[in-house]
This record gives sequence, C-alpha cells and structure tokens, in this order.
Amino acid sequence: MFGRIDHIGVAVEDIDAAMELYRDGLGMREQHRETVEGFGVEAVLLEVGDGHVELLRPLSAESAVGRFLERNGPGIHHVAYQTDDIDSALGEVRAAGLRLIDEEPRTGIRQSRVAFLHPKATGGVLTELVEAAH
Ligand code: CO
Repeated sequence: MFGRIDHIGVAVEDIDAAMELYRDGLGMREQHRETVEGFGVEAVLLEVGDGHVELLRPLSAESAVGRFLERNGPGIHHVAYQTDDIDSALGEVRAAGLRLIDEEPRTGIRQSRVAFLHPKATGGVLTELVEAAH
C-alpha cells in the first residue's frame, strides 16, 4: 500500500529557530516552503535523501497544529506515508476498520493529495497518506 515514508511532520513555534537546528546544525537543505492555508500552517520541507522533514508552524492558535503546540509543545506531529493511489489506500484502511479524520483526500503541500487517519486508530501516531501531484 505504501511506497516509503514521505516525511516526518514536526510542529515548531518558530521556523527560523528550527532552521538553525535543521539546516545549520543537522545540515538539511530547504527544498520547499509554502503557506498551506487549508491546514493553517507555514510549512518547510527539508531534504533527507528521498524523504523529508516537514516543519509546521501554525498560522493561528486555533489551527490543528496550534492546538497541538498548546497541548504538547514542539515536537513530532505526524508520520506521512507515500502512496501512488491515495483513493485505493484510503479504501483499504477504511475496509480494515480504521477510523479516518479525512474521508476524502484534501490538497496538501505542493498540490499533493493527503488524508489523515485518526490517531485513536493508529496507537497515538497521527498518520498521513500522501499522493504526490503528478
Ligand atoms: Co505532512
């Protein structure tokens, strides 16, 4: 169902401070930066081989990532798996009885199609499926 881990999403309060760690400290290159209004975040994709770290800064305290930061502070927010066909992948996890947050794919970073599974269905690990734009 999944090709690889696409990215690890990390919630941050300050993108510039996080870049000092990831770019200057850990040597990761910034590949892409985008404000994703639908998710209420500014996002930065950092290169790690074929995968990424996705830094997420909430645009408001009421966004999902804003509420996450309020509850948990900065840290790992989600794991994203790459799929070539998100519609069939969603069908498979739904058929397996897993609860979804997104019944239908939404538009994510770089015009990808994404959908989140409910963390209560995935052992507390917020899980995202990603189909890259073609
Ligand atoms: Co993500």
